Amino acid sequence: MNMPRSGYLCKTASSQQKWIMDKSKINTSLPRIDGDSVKVTAPATIANLVCGFDVLGMAINDPYDEIEMRLNNENSDIRIVHTDDFNLSNDPAKNVIGAALKAMQEEGGVACGFDVTVKKNIKPGSGLGSSAASSAGAVVAANQLLNNRFSNEDLVRFAMHGEKLASGVKHADNIAPCIYGGITLIRSIHPLDIVQLSFPPLFVAVVHPQIEVKTSDARQILRKEVQLKDAIRQWGNIAGLVAGFIKQDYALIGRSLEDVIIEPVRSILIPGFYELKQRAKEAGALGGGISGSGPSIFMLCETEKIAKDVEKEMQLTFDQIGVDYKTYVSTVKQ
Ligand code: HSE
Repeated sequence: MNMPRSGYLCKTASSQQKWIMDKSKINTSLPRIDGDSVKVTAPATIANLVCGFDVLGMAINDPYDEIEMRLNNENSDIRIVHTDDFNLSNDPAKNVIGAALKAMQEEGGVACGFDVTVKKNIKPGSGLGSSAASSAGAVVAANQLLNNRFSNEDLVRFAMHGEKLASGVKHADNIAPCIYGGITLIRSIHPLDIVQLSFPPLFVAVVHPQIEVKTSDARQILRKEVQLKDAIRQWGNIAGLVAGFIKQDYALIGRSLEDVIIEPVRSILIPGFYELKQRAKEAGALGGGISGSGPSIFMLCETEKIAKDVEKEMQLTFDQIGVDYKTYVSTVKQ
């Protein structure tokens, strides 16, 4: 998609059919359009789903970010204002929203600029896809203002530039579920190959210990080589988890939520990780682990009651360790 920047006027829909998206597949909540402004919410996401490092992700209903956007037809400036307390830079060159929108301008041939107001509720460095919610929410909002000129796949491609800025590498396991909803398999990012998976009713208990883990740091500590026996076990688990979702087989989902490659390394960054996981399983969770690159931990549960019991156990564990935390009980965002 190497279109010239002046290729399209801003307020008219593109005639390029391949870029016209299926509106019914947009996950971010339906926008409210006031004049030229649009408002979207962008959900938190749980990347990896334990065994599927960089290839599996799930959108959840709570927490979520709120983004309001207007077109700027005067020039191509991207202006960002944060109304939250996270002290993120408003400089588009240093903000993932700027990176994603710039990619849309340059690769998508969009000549106009954007005025963006963001209220983030997903804390950066939480492991809940904070940077992805900003990047994905921004490109979805911009696309609405541009009469849905781009496909979901195009939006993932643009938003991955935000992930590159945030973590040093492009990955789509937060971006894709944020844009498509539900549970997604990213079979490949070059070229993009995204598969939406069906799944049974699931409740998710999440605990976010109030420590910050930067994705770039959490990637740097990983070993670059994997033993064949570990790879075989991991392949079995990924295939088992995907099959478990599609077959609605809770026991298979539970058995497959095992990570023998990433978790043993990253868990050292999270106090009480193994104790919490054990206690959550005893409280009835199917299984779970580190959310994205951490430090949040998530557990999948069959019913809301079990998820609430698991949440209580998570709270007790961190109370005893003396770590501040936030918890969420959520459903999968469709
Ligand atoms: N797959 C990425 C990682 C997700 O684990 O580094 C980061 O949210």
